[in-house]
Amino acid sequence: MLQPRPSALLSALNALPRRSPAFLRHIAAQRCRRAYSLQIDTESDPKLAGIEPSKLSVAKTTTPKDLLPPEELVFGRNFTDHMLSIEWTASEGWLAPRITPYQNLSLDPATCVFHYAFECFEGMKAYKDSHGHIRLFRPDRNMARLNKSSARIALPTFNGAALTDLISRFVKLDERFIPSARGYSLYLRPTMIGTQRTLGVGPPGSALLYVIASPVGPYYPTGFKAVSLEATDYAVRAWPGGVGDKKLGANYAPCIVPQMQAASRGFHQNLWLFGEEEYVTEVGTMNLFAAMKNKETGQNELLTAPLDGTILEGVTRDSILALARERLTKEGWKVEERKFTMRDLAEAADEGRLLEIFGAGTAAVVSPVRKISWRGRLVDCGLEEGKEAGPVAQRMKDWIEGIQYGDEEHPWSVKI
Ligand SMILES: Cc1ncc(COP(=O)(O)O)c(C=O)c1O
Repeated sequence: MLQPRPSALLSALNALPRRSPAFLRHIAAQRCRRAYSLQIDTESDPKLAGIEPSKLSVAKTTTPKDLLPPEELVFGRNFTDHMLSIEWTASEGWLAPRITPYQNLSLDPATCVFHYAFECFEGMKAYKDSHGHIRLFRPDRNMARLNKSSARIALPTFNGAALTDLISRFVKLDERFIPSARGYSLYLRPTMIGTQRTLGVGPPGSALLYVIASPVGPYYPTGFKAVSLEATDYAVRAWPGGVGDKKLGANYAPCIVPQMQAASRGFHQNLWLFGEEEYVTEVGTMNLFAAMKNKETGQNELLTAPLDGTILEGVTRDSILALARERLTKEGWKVEERKFTMRDLAEAADEGRLLEIFGAGTAAVVSPVRKISWRGRLVDCGLEEGKEAGPVAQRMKDWIEGIQYGDEEHPWSVKI
């Protein structure tokens, strides 16, 4: 049931001007809290079953696939032998998990996922370390984010530790698909869809949570390649109170046209700006970091946009922030989550204060940026001539990969 509104919050809310940004943020946050409390109530209803790893059944494939030579792997094209599936119904909760051979889904054409986009997903990886152990990187973060995404679109929430346990068993079963070489991994795609057969718009009465896995090679097989971006000023990816901060499939299809537009003008990716101020938010499907010297103090600063609804809460972003706070502040860096504009970047570039820009995400860890096209000019992002990455991006990649592949023992890397 809905929680009663705390009266202090209500009076603070009433004191705000009706259309002020603070009021609108409160309304958005409050609506999200309501959505979550409904979902969490559904999940913790004692009549409904939670995900139960002990009920897992495993049906192994009788036609194991041939492994591709690692150098032929293309992101997201090839899949392992099996998949993990867990069905949910509004009357029973989560049903017994199943590992089966990788197979097609059979869904009625009226299934709600096809009409109203009841779909959310995650992207995470399993790595093989130098001793042959398999490791996940911060799986708790992906589970928490998937729960936030599913709650937002009235799909069921679940116990993240239970799903991580099941994913671990699935990955171990298909372990032979993870190449041992550094830079290779098994990309995992947990996905949740509404499966109710209805054209009525409402909360799905049934859902399917499934996980598939795809072996992937290094993002930069021959070393970093810095990219050039086009700042997108005619389309908006996300806004406060919207859903761009959730990993919903519906957020991704509308990003393809701006990406194609950027590509048609020779840019690798587009840069998402927000508002009249042209705040810098994300690059393609990555978070964005800028390293620059402060205009007043000259101090080195590492900046990224705050979690205000206009960016996805990236696991890599969070890891970079934590490592920067632990390791770069000692060297005099200031690390900040704050808004900055395209104008700030251009001004820093003009004054020789822009040191580095890089994207951050699971696929590449970091992706250095050489130039940004904005308002008819090219902003030079500070990379030295002939270099493909700046020192901060390079060190972040080395540190994070060192943890992911177990060279550095760290609580983020979970041996399974
Ligand atoms: C829109 C968007 N932003 C940022 C990220 C980076 O997130 P993560 O570091 O968790 O991969 C992703 C990738 O999942 C994304 O789709």
